[in-house]
Amino acid sequence: MGKISFSLILALAVVTVGTTSEKKCVLSGMWKNELHSLMEIHDVNDEGEFSGEYLTSVTATSNCIRRSPLKGAQHDVERRAQPTFGFTVNWEPFSNSTTIFVGQCFLDEKGKEILETVWLLREQVDSPGEDWKATRVGTNIFTRKRNAMRGKILQDHSPPCEAPAPTALGTRPPAPRLPSPPRL
Ligand code: BTN
Repeated sequence: MGKISFSLILALAVVTVGTTSEKKCVLSGMWKNELHSLMEIHDVNDEGEFSGEYLTSVTATSNCIRRSPLKGAQHDVERRAQPTFGFTVNWEPFSNSTTIFVGQCFLDEKGKEILETVWLLREQVDSPGEDWKATRVGTNIFTRKRNAMRGKILQDHSPPCEAPAPTALGTRPPAPRLPSPPRL
């Protein structure tokens, strides 16, 4: 093989390795936010779609918190290092509300992944006249929770809803509540 052909192949190999080894922010895995809520995102498919589970640490209800299903989509899985994404959490297991999150998966200067998100939480109200108070908005920042065994952590952290542990007063303490929206 001539010197030129060999150099060309070598250059191509270097470019290929450089391109494929570029670190990308991947949504799959276990995440924790600043409220100490946990979420597990399962594998992202070729279309960028994913599902998972969310275990919130807070609730606007007085119900016992349960793991809740989530579904979403991530932008351009292959091409983008810091993709945007969106997902919906259906709180049906304990609440009639729905939350949508939109955000971007960032890599910081050390290559650490951070999910910067904005959410809208819609609660069910009885009539259009109450619509004005039905939506809360906020932000959450998620960081990756390492060494998490798939499917196990959320299960282990879920509160035991069925058998309330008796306390001195005979009842369990209420779940932490979200702050109420400002009064108009
Ligand atoms: C409800 O209380 O009706 C359902 C749970 C809502 C939890 C919200 S969603 C946005 C925020 N981020 C969290 O991790 N938990 C709260």
